[in-house]
Amino acid sequence: MKVKTLKINYTVYEDASELEQQDKELLEKAIEAMYNAYSPYSQFKVGAAVLLENGTVVKGNNQENVAYPDGLCAERVAMFAASANYPQQDIKAIAICASSEKFEVKQAVSPCGSCRQVMSEYENKAKNPIRIILGSLHNNVLIFDKVSDLLPLSFVEEKLKQS
Ligand code: THU
Repeated sequence: MKVKTLKINYTVYEDASELEQQDKELLEKAIEAMYNAYSPYSQFKVGAAVLLENGTVVKGNNQENVAYPDGLCAERVAMFAASANYPQQDIKAIAICASSEKFEVKQAVSPCGSCRQVMSEYENKAKNPIRIILGSLHNNVLIFDKVSDLLPLSFVEEKLKQS
């Protein structure tokens, strides 16, 4: 028996003005998208902005439904829209921001497991890391260099094949 440890690195910014220009611009797009969220049930608004290799930015936000499980997170709305409209373009980065109509969201919000799995799919497809920028309206920003930092030991295509 052996206990193993996984270690990840991420960068924390307490001041969003210190972000690299490209990250700052992508986060601003995620914030724009956040305000258009359709979230009448949770009143929790999430925006995501996906940067493609050709520089195109595709925005998405959470879309809720009275049949609760039929709604979809902002990250997947943005990634699926990007892949549907620009199937040849790899995703280079995704920025995410959240706010609530009921309370102040002070810390960056971390994506749910299903969104991480979808990010992992596009990272594997591209064979290049996807940068993840988790922002907030309160200057707290976390940056991860690759999806595998947020979803270690993920299910991968090789597992579908006989070894
Ligand atoms: N939500 C997102 O859009 N992204 C996340 O990473 C977490 C949660 C949405 C789903 C739902 O519309 C609302 O936030 C509350 O869970």
